[in-house]
Amino acid sequence: MITSLNQVPVGILGLGFLGKILSSELTSFEESWGTWHKTPPPETTLPVFHFDWADENCWDSLPETSATLVLTIPPLLKNPQGETDRLHLWGKWMRQNRPQLKRLIYISTTGVYPKCNGIWSEDSEFEADTLSGQLRLLTEKILSQYFQLQVIRPGGIYGFGRGIDVRLKLGKQIPLSSTPVHRIHVHDLARITLHLLENPFCTACVNAVDLEAKPSWEVAHWLIENRVDLTKEMFEENTDDLPGSPQRIISNKHLLELDIPLRYPTFRQGMMSS
Ligand SMILES: NC(=O)c1ccc[n+]([C@@H]2O[C@H](COP(=O)([O-])OP(=O)(O)OC[C@H]3O[C@@H](n4cnc5c(N)ncnc54)[C@H](OP(=O)(O)O)[C@@H]3O)[C@@H](O)[C@H]2O)c1
Repeated sequence: MITSLNQVPVGILGLGFLGKILSSELTSFEESWGTWHKTPPPETTLPVFHFDWADENCWDSLPETSATLVLTIPPLLKNPQGETDRLHLWGKWMRQNRPQLKRLIYISTTGVYPKCNGIWSEDSEFEADTLSGQLRLLTEKILSQYFQLQVIRPGGIYGFGRGIDVRLKLGKQIPLSSTPVHRIHVHDLARITLHLLENPFCTACVNAVDLEAKPSWEVAHWLIENRVDLTKEMFEENTDDLPGSPQRIISNKHLLELDIPLRYPTFRQGMMSS
């Protein structure tokens, strides 16, 4: 838990999986707030209000007082030009009407990197090869024109009710692809976000992935061998993505340089308890 006093308040746009965990860690960031979209969160440590990013009439609900924004909302449109126009409109509105909200941490994704073999780091030269990756990259680029921006690119976010262990229990299919899945426990992702909140100049962009990427089926096998509540009968195969890219590596070198201790360095610690 961060304990320093006089932190700039934080405004979390989107109290979803990460947003909720992050909100509970912000006790020392006085006057922080969060937004909900479809349903108000049942219990929260922060003041919250309704906000729909898609609705221009809602933007006025954002506070006028200084805060660092954490944007957890994914791209809203599937059409790159439409999303580009929408982001510019919001950026211009924010610059004009909320100049106190000029710092923003954007939760992007490692899905920006191509789905092919290679070692992908924050400063790699590449183009996204999926629509969702393209939408994320254009969002990163446009937000940087309007905000003092830091980008976090998480791998698959798991923990507290999400992950391969939960898929096994629910009888959901497990991909047999050989592509290593890079993961981060939601608690550690919140810690990384807190580190950036506290250190505005520590990095412009960081991959949030833990120390051991493994294909989903390997994680499932490990879980079956190591967790008494999981059995091999629960393993439903999904062959959709075969054969995969076994040498697609998302670099965590920069994250390690930032020296943020991970509570769950690999899925082995993060998924050991149910
Ligand atoms: N899950 C993963 O493995 C993974 C991996 C890499 C990156 N990411 C990305 O990382 C970010 C955080 O992940 P997460 O798991 O915390 O996501 P999440 O649980 O889906 O949270 C996203 C939040 O955005 C809100 N939202 C959606 N549309 C909105 C709108 N029009 N206006 C205002 N709020 C809106 C959602 O509210 P409602 O639910 O009420 O609509 C939700 O609270 C997301 O952008 C996610 O796509 C996820």
